[in-house]
Amino acid sequence: MELVSAIQQRRSVFKFTDQPVGLADIMPLLSLAVLAPNHRLTQPWQFLWVGPQTQQVLSAYYAEAKALKKVDRTHPTFADYYQRAQQRFMKIPAILMVACRVNDDPVIAEEDFAATCCAVQNFLLAVTDKGLGAQWSTHPIIRDERVLDLLGLDAQSMRIVAMLYLGYPAQLPPAPPREAAGAFLTLLV
Ligand SMILES: Cc1cc2nc3c(=O)[nH]c(=O)nc-3n(C[C@H](O)[C@H](O)[C@H](O)COP(=O)(O)O)c2cc1C
Repeated sequence: MELVSAIQQRRSVFKFTDQPVGLADIMPLLSLAVLAPNHRLTQPWQFLWVGPQTQQVLSAYYAEAKALKKVDRTHPTFADYYQRAQQRFMKIPAILMVACRVNDDPVIAEEDFAATCCAVQNFLLAVTDKGLGAQWSTHPIIRDERVLDLLGLDAQSMRIVAMLYLGYPAQLPPAPPREAAGAFLTLLV
């Protein structure tokens, strides 16, 4: 696929088929992710491939947060919201977490975060090129200390930048409308 087409066709995909996605499918795409621009070549990223047991634990935190957004724990419908959210999460064919080192120097920390986002975008374009689909999620569980613990990440020195849901698209959503670039352009003398 042409680069321009990949940029145009990349969508956030919310519905996946049951076709599994393995690490072997993803490794070549990660090789492209790490070619992102990166000031000082700090290589601040870490990629965490979520296995079934980890997905199960994550699903409980995810479902808890989703259900609590609707009702409190004692409400009779809590269990139902919880169960439906957990089932939805467990149906995601594959999950890749992308974390970033948090440098003590705030300028480097910001550059490293930016570089990690560039790596994610490289990855998403490569995903599109391969006919796969992804959704970048920043659901609050990525900031939950239990999740950082579960992933073996030190909360003082690492942050999760993206939780990427991956799979073969069952449905490609239409492109959301965007303003033309000219609307954001300032011409300076
Ligand atoms: C940093 C970041 C965080 C995002 N987090 C979420 C999220 O938590 N939930 C979600 O549904 N979409 C999330 N998205 C996807 C955006 O909603 C999506 O990119 C936007 O609707 C435009 O659609 P498109 O990606 O198909 O062009 C996130 C995107 C970015 C860049």
